[in-house]
Amino acid sequence: MKIMEVEGGHKLSGTIRVSGAKNATVAIIPAAILTDEEVTICNIPEITDTDALCDILHELNVKTSRASGSLVIDAKDMKNTEIAEVHSKKLRASYYFMGALLGRYKKVSMFFPGGCSIGARPIDLHLKGFEALGAKVTKSKNKYTVEADELKGANIYLDIASVGATINIMLAAVLATGTTVIDNVAKEPEIVNVATFLNNMGAKITGAGTSTIKIVGVKKLHKCFHEIIPDRIEAGTYLIIGALCGNPLRIDNIIPEHLDPLISKLEEMGAELEVGTDYVVVNQKDDLKPVTIKTAVYPGFATDLQQPFTVLLTQANGTSKVVETIWENRFMHVPYLNELGADITVKNQTATIQGPSNLVGTQVVATDLRAGAAMVAAALKATGKTTITNAEHILRGYEQIKEKLEAVGAKINLKDI
Ligand code: UD1
Repeated sequence: MKIMEVEGGHKLSGTIRVSGAKNATVAIIPAAILTDEEVTICNIPEITDTDALCDILHELNVKTSRASGSLVIDAKDMKNTEIAEVHSKKLRASYYFMGALLGRYKKVSMFFPGGCSIGARPIDLHLKGFEALGAKVTKSKNKYTVEADELKGANIYLDIASVGATINIMLAAVLATGTTVIDNVAKEPEIVNVATFLNNMGAKITGAGTSTIKIVGVKKLHKCFHEIIPDRIEAGTYLIIGALCGNPLRIDNIIPEHLDPLISKLEEMGAELEVGTDYVVVNQKDDLKPVTIKTAVYPGFATDLQQPFTVLLTQANGTSKVVETIWENRFMHVPYLNELGADITVKNQTATIQGPSNLVGTQVVATDLRAGAAMVAAALKATGKTTITNAEHILRGYEQIKEKLEAVGAKINLKDI
């Protein structure tokens, strides 16, 4: 287990450069096995989810090499062996190997994926999509087997605009015969980035970023060079930290439009912001106004920013509300924020935050990745020392978080126990 100790109360000044998007990376790495030619992906974040996916690639006899933010993947000698449960359990996104292996070999057998415990996280829509393409799905105790004689394009409607299902079905459909149309898809920028990657490899995908994606199947994909977009959730987390402790803090290498819902809410609170073409500068300010946020699929307020944003709401003057509509178990950070001195109650998927609160360091737990980010934000604001246990969750999605924050004035110690 990793422990992060944060000495809070310091002002943070300088620039934080945002890394490549985790949620695009974790889909693009599995997608790369759809070709037997070498692909080069740059702006790869150095996070433990990337390591976990590379471990899976090695298990499949796929060669990788990493150098200064880029990853070269060569799946020429790949073998469609079953991924060990210990590997697929490490992260949710291991399920993208289902779509990719099904697309390439027409057969895949995989243990259930792991990931943050933020809700039930079913994958019925992924499986329905595979079935619509002509695959047969068999579920045993802890494993799915999906196989097809031939994958054929189909019209698919997603009951929920799921990020994972949209991407997984795209992965299975790019090499299918005929045309696939998926309706009510998710529109997240990471989906557009994955579709661009597949198109760079020779796929024929249109409509990514809208609610209908059309895929005309091709026979073969080829080598390509691709760049991962900046991580809007990492950027948003640092923006929130800037609103809590910035003096001022500049968040660089971002696409501000991807952060529109967060920026609008910060403006509504009266935060001091300067939005540039690829950066935002933010200053800590007293007298923030309370607001209500409701999480929604993109371009709504990202559920992944809900937890860190709750920390900022503890500093607003009055009553704020957070309504979580995507995940039924995403308030696990709340008891720990209350331990730090916040005044938050949760009822029926809504958190009510009474601010402002003086946060004082204590021992807390990073129950999942974004809850961990919330703990870091709160610990930086709190006076005294906060000890965050289970900090390995944070390293799944934030590249060099200790180093990036220390470079702007934070005092952080990270250790194994
Ligand atoms: C992705 C993100 C995650 C983010 C989430 C919502 C990655 C690796 N993770 O997760 O950070 O919090 O989007 O923005 O990109 N659902 C079903 N059946 C399915 C699939 C989903 O009912 O087959 C439901 C889920 O329970 C949830 C909702 O749909 O309530 C959205 O889930 P989804 O968009 O699939 O999330 P993930 O792709 O797992």
